[in-house]
Amino acid sequence: MAILRNNSRQFGVLASVGALSLFIFAAAFSFGQTKNSCVDCHSALPAPEGVTQQMFSQDIHAQKGLTCVSCHGGDASSDDPTQAMNVKAGWKGKIDRKQVPQLCGSCHSNPAYMRQYDPSLHTDQLSQYHTSIHGKRLAAGDAKVAVCTDCHGVHNLRAPSDPRSKVNPVNVATTCAHCHADAAYMKGYGIPTNQLAQYNTSVHHEDLVARGDLSAPTCTTCHGNHGAVPPGVDKVQNVCATCHVFQAQMYDKSSHKAAFESASLPGCVVCHSNHAITHPTDAKLGTGPEGVCMQCHSRGDNCDQARAEMLNELTQLNQAIKNADQALAEADAAGMEVSEARMAQSQARDALTKARVAIHSFNKVLVDQDVQAGLKVANKDLQVGRQAMVERNRRRAGLGVSLLAIGMVLAGLWLYIRKIES
Ligand code: HEC
Ligand code: HEC
Ligand code: HEC
Ligand code: HEC
Ligand code: HEC
Ligand code: HEC
Ligand code: HEC
Ligand code: HEC
Ligand code: HEC
Repeated sequence: MAILRNNSRQFGVLASVGALSLFIFAAAFSFGQTKNSCVDCHSALPAPEGVTQQMFSQDIHAQKGLTCVSCHGGDASSDDPTQAMNVKAGWKGKIDRKQVPQLCGSCHSNPAYMRQYDPSLHTDQLSQYHTSIHGKRLAAGDAKVAVCTDCHGVHNLRAPSDPRSKVNPVNVATTCAHCHADAAYMKGYGIPTNQLAQYNTSVHHEDLVARGDLSAPTCTTCHGNHGAVPPGVDKVQNVCATCHVFQAQMYDKSSHKAAFESASLPGCVVCHSNHAITHPTDAKLGTGPEGVCMQCHSRGDNCDQARAEMLNELTQLNQAIKNADQALAEADAAGMEVSEARMAQSQARDALTKARVAIHSFNKVLVDQDVQAGLKVANKDLQVGRQAMVERNRRRAGLGVSLLAIGMVLAGLWLYIRKIES
């Protein structure tokens, strides 16, 4: 222990000395680097040439000590534009859209270089990008697709963890929609431009934006960021399954899986859609407008009968839980002690949740198991609630009889006193 403590003290001293020299070094370094004629001159220029110090200081690259020259080349020590922006000094001029991935990749695909800054940072963005529809089309000469700067921005580019970053989870959808929701821009590709509009109605968007739950998916969670391709039909389940594990396990064992695969149907998406996924209710199992089963099954066939039975079971359990809740609430309001049964109700609710997951087996026996377990609890709780009210009524009646008896005694006494007085 003594050695350990001694060591940690030594380490503390060393760390302070290290931090101090690092500070002096950094200060000296930044003084030595003060001359940046590019930003001095460009700060005063109008758009699009205007790049101010204030804007660039927000950029992760500036914060890590990189300068204009790191990307554009040139001689930042000269105030003479013909010197500063001279191809002989390595000046590259404006980076053409088609050259952007190559430029960014020149550092970001170099593990030895990137390791000096952050060893945990991936260095596969460019190679991934080449596999995406964006990358493939760019390679084929289509400059309208997304390049690195369309998603990340430029000159005030921030780390994805920064809430102001264009690729922070809460901003991704708008970033993609900049092109994908622009019908004029996307004209000619023959793909829909409603992804954002639909996604904005989804339970995923609501969970992410309204509730701030970063575990809910945005565009890139399902499509990938650098390897952006739509998940192929056979891959969709895998995407949904990374989060909805139990439904996927049930679905995988169901006869729907093989049947859908052989018909090239996109699994979960058949019943839930891809972008406009909403909170499902039991009506999804029904035959009304929200129902999803009748698009393939016909009224009265075996599958339809199984569907009707499963729906009936869910409805029954749902109603049983409501009845028990009501009876217990009444008893509670009447001052009866039913807290144990009220707690037990959560087991019935859990059973209902499990039964709704078990729907994905499309096997009425499995659904029945969960429903029966829930019914047992809910019906018992209903009895507890009703029993409590019977007990309360009995006590009330008892109280009434006692009050009557007391009243009669008092009346007798009064009569007796009057009799004595007279
Ligand atoms: C004294 C002012 C001045 C200095 C110093 C200067 N620039 Fe410029 N720069 C300009 C002006 C003005 C333009 C726009 C007119 C033009 O294209 O020549 C420009 C254009 C550019 C462009 C866009 C070129 C294009 O084709 O649209 C880039 C990129 C650029 N500068 C980068 C730099 C870098 C990097 C440095 C430092 C090494 C630098 N500039 C230094 C004034 C300056
Ligand atoms: C991380 C790399 C990077 C750094 C650092 C960087 N730029 Fe750029 N710059 C680019 C790219 C890429 C483009 C092309 C823009 C696009 O694709 O939208 C560009 C475009 C420009 C343009 C042309 C704008 C236009 O639309 O005509 C100017 C001017 C410019 N940069 C100046 C600067 C100045 C000045 C600095 C330093 C303050 C700087 N850049 C730092 C990557 C960089
Ligand atoms: C001259 C080398 C260089 C070039 C060129 C370059 N970067 Fe960087 N980039 C870096 C360094 C160094 C960091 C800081 C890494 C760290 O410590 O987080 C960085 C950080 C980033 C980050 C934040 C990573 C994180 O999570 O912290 C993003 C995003 C990024 N760069 C995107 C780009 C894009 C897009 C381009 C092209 C327009 C580009 N970079 C060009 C060197 C470069
Ligand atoms: C279609 C949009 C899109 C394009 C194009 C794109 N990125 Fe990204 N990038 C993202 C998103 C979204 C994230 C955030 C990832 C996350 O948080 O999981 C990201 C993250 C990053 C990071 C942080 C480290 C990491 O891998 O998570 C770097 C560095 C980066 N991108 C560099 C690049 C470079 C270099 C290019 C061009 C070759 C590029 N990006 C093209 C959307 C894009
Ligand atoms: C600069 C505009 C632009 C931005 C920003 C952009 N895209 Fe794209 N994207 C395109 C274009 C153009 C295509 C080509 C359409 C095609 O080939 O069907 C495309 C194709 C795609 C495809 C393949 C569609 C198909 O089935 O053909 C997907 C998936 C995709 N983008 C997702 C995204 C995601 C996710 C984001 C945001 C992280 C994003 N895109 C950002 C322009 C953009
Ligand atoms: C929950 C997962 C998920 C989310 C979130 C998601 N997508 Fe998709 N997306 C899919 C699936 C699944 C497909 C269809 C794939 C297929 O049928 O091959 C698809 C298809 C696409 C296509 C191809 C054209 C089309 O509409 O069929 C584009 C482009 C696209 N999505 C962009 C986006 C954008 C932009 C966002 C964010 C606003 C987004 N997606 C959010 C799963 C998702
Ligand atoms: C990155 C994780 C993730 C992915 C991928 C994902 N989801 Fe979700 N999903 C969530 C979260 C988080 C919620 C909201 C919390 C909840 O209600 O479970 C949610 C909610 C839902 C709901 C509503 C649940 C309810 O009780 O209201 C459905 C249905 C759904 N997702 C289906 C899908 C489908 C289908 C896919 C694939 C196309 C998918 N999800 C992909 C995380 C994910
Ligand atoms: C054949 C249609 C169908 C398919 C395929 C399907 N579901 Fe469902 N899903 C439903 C129905 C019906 C409900 C509503 C159950 C209820 O509330 O009564 C539901 C409910 C859900 C819920 C809400 C939570 C719950 O369990 O009540 C989630 C999450 C979900 N499904 C995810 C998935 C995922 C992930 C897949 C793919 C692995 C999938 N579903 C495939 C029909 C389907
Ligand atoms: C896209 C078409 C499609 C949809 C939608 C669909 N099914 Fe099916 N279903 C099939 C096919 C195909 C089979 C397998 C062949 C068969 O048995 O008819 C099947 C089989 C079944 C089976 C028999 C399972 C077994 O193991 O014997 C049941 C039960 C069933 N479906 C119920 C449902 C319910 C409930 C829904 C709605 C939530 C639904 N299906 C939605 C196409 C569909």
